[in-house]
Amino acid sequence: MLNGKKVLLTAGPTYEPIDPVRFIGNHSTGKMGYALAEEFARRGAQVTLVSGPVNLVTLAPNIHTVLVMTADEMFAAAQQFAAEADIWVFAAAVADYKPKLAADQKIKKDADSFSIELVKNVDIAATLGKQKRADQFAVGFALETNNELENAQGKLQKKNLNMVILNSLQDAGAGFKHDTNKISIVEPDKVTSFDLKPKNAVAQDIVRAITERLYA
Ligand code: CTP
Repeated sequence: MLNGKKVLLTAGPTYEPIDPVRFIGNHSTGKMGYALAEEFARRGAQVTLVSGPVNLVTLAPNIHTVLVMTADEMFAAAQQFAAEADIWVFAAAVADYKPKLAADQKIKKDADSFSIELVKNVDIAATLGKQKRADQFAVGFALETNNELENAQGKLQKKNLNMVILNSLQDAGAGFKHDTNKISIVEPDKVTSFDLKPKNAVAQDIVRAITERLYA
């Protein structure tokens, strides 16, 4: 059980505004992150769910949802709860880049071609990773198409994570837009692979693995 434990979870996509009516986003539905929030809550943890725009709601009384739009807003909200949380799970599909300038007014289609200058977004997991204490446990996700294990192991180091949940887009039924997922749990000293399962069963596997590590 995780009674008394505090969990900070990021979930869903971020939307980076181009002008008041347009944005850069991605296909994340937030299902994996929300399934994790429900599972942590079911096990007695107090969850702060920092969520980008999704079509999901949580009803558990011990999940506090903070709705955000952009990566900067997600970072600001996560930062606020990071120090007090025992477990951080970064399940959000944060946009890697944002428009350098968002127009105040709707952009009209005057020109024949049009470019948007993009600048890097804050890396929420890596930035918080720099302030992680020894008593805190951080989990990230990696969605990869090639060199999966090597990339996942690189993310453990680069973002100071204790665990990376690896999804490969080479696996049918895994990743975005599916109600199922097929994961491997990558830790510094071992890799555990699971079968294709519904996302709530995957959430159970992940929370069980985190709990085992916490109390090891
Ligand atoms: N992440 C984050 N903030 C970002 C980008 C990613 O917190 N700006 C987190 C994600 O929530 C995920 C992990 O970092 O847990 C890995 O995200 P991913 O996009 O796979 O990694 P990147 O560092 O962006 O590397 P790349 O896209 O080049 O593979």
